[in-house]
Amino acid sequence: MPAGRTPRNFFRPLAIGAPAPMREQPVRLERMIHFVPPHIEKVRAKVPSLIDSVDVVLGNLEDAIPADQKKAARDGFIAMAKENDFGATGLWTRINCLNSPWALDDIVEVVGAVGNKLDVIMLPKVDGAWDIHYLDQLLAQLEAQHGISKPIGIHAILETAEGVMNVEDIAAASPRMHGMSLGPADLAAFRGMKTTRVGGGHPDYRVLADADGDNPRAGYQQDLWHYTVGKMVDACQSFGIKAFYGPFGDFSDPEACEAQFLNAFLQGCHGAWSLHPTQIDIAKKVYSPDPDEVSFARRILESMPDGTGAVMIDGKMQDDATWKQAKVIVDLARLVAEKDPELAKVYGL
Ligand code: GLV
Ligand code: MG
Repeated sequence: MPAGRTPRNFFRPLAIGAPAPMREQPVRLERMIHFVPPHIEKVRAKVPSLIDSVDVVLGNLEDAIPADQKKAARDGFIAMAKENDFGATGLWTRINCLNSPWALDDIVEVVGAVGNKLDVIMLPKVDGAWDIHYLDQLLAQLEAQHGISKPIGIHAILETAEGVMNVEDIAAASPRMHGMSLGPADLAAFRGMKTTRVGGGHPDYRVLADADGDNPRAGYQQDLWHYTVGKMVDACQSFGIKAFYGPFGDFSDPEACEAQFLNAFLQGCHGAWSLHPTQIDIAKKVYSPDPDEVSFARRILESMPDGTGAVMIDGKMQDDATWKQAKVIVDLARLVAEKDPELAKVYGL
């Protein structure tokens, strides 16, 4: 017997009257998922000016919202969703985790009130496919009940050891799966890692060069998150969903934030979280492809119009595989160009 639903049933709605699950993800630019604490009125008042400067606005209901403000955050998110027109900018919420006392009301109240405007629910602390199945079924029931026309996506946070162990099952759990973000803070805690940082490197995690007499030995800092990002990207790409780097907690170190975002981008991630306004521009810069790379990639595509064969460009060998690499970069550049006229000019698109 197959472990999951049969291929034919996989794409059936899970409740009578719920919209049919999407077979393909909508193509959207999601360079940064910008976190907003919706219980703070002053912050909510700035949402209209935020909408055009980010790709996704996320109302955070989970960690960083004090326990006595959980209801205020939920109500604030509903108000913010009702009051604004988000246009092509994504509207997401991060609900509380499923074993918390708030998760059920988060889901039922938010979907009931603004389900037609909501693109994606971010689900924290996902341990396995069972968490996705629970939310999947509940969302179908609520979509049917409230006449919601477009299925709401699920984005999992990969931030428990069990979740990392089950990452492929999570990616495959439902056609609602939009993607996944690495949550380095919770993951460090769940794994018993010895760091108090939110993402980024650690000066003690390094490789030491060989001893060379009495000369001081060089040490090279390594990326603590490399393994998990690689595992997450492989799982996501295999199931046609998107991988993201999550938070970078040291707002005073934009250089390190950029380096972390860039490592994730080069490894295959589509975006990262911005928790501070300064991180919006860092994400924009990193997750929009480099103009020189775009121009080289366009030369590859132009020199191999049908994507086969082998040519040399500037002494570098190109073939079917590099044509596909180039297409990833040019496709992303086109998506960025649609949203950003200045970059469109720089890219020549
Ligand atoms: C994000 O939620 C994290 O725990 O890093
Ligand atoms: Mg977390």
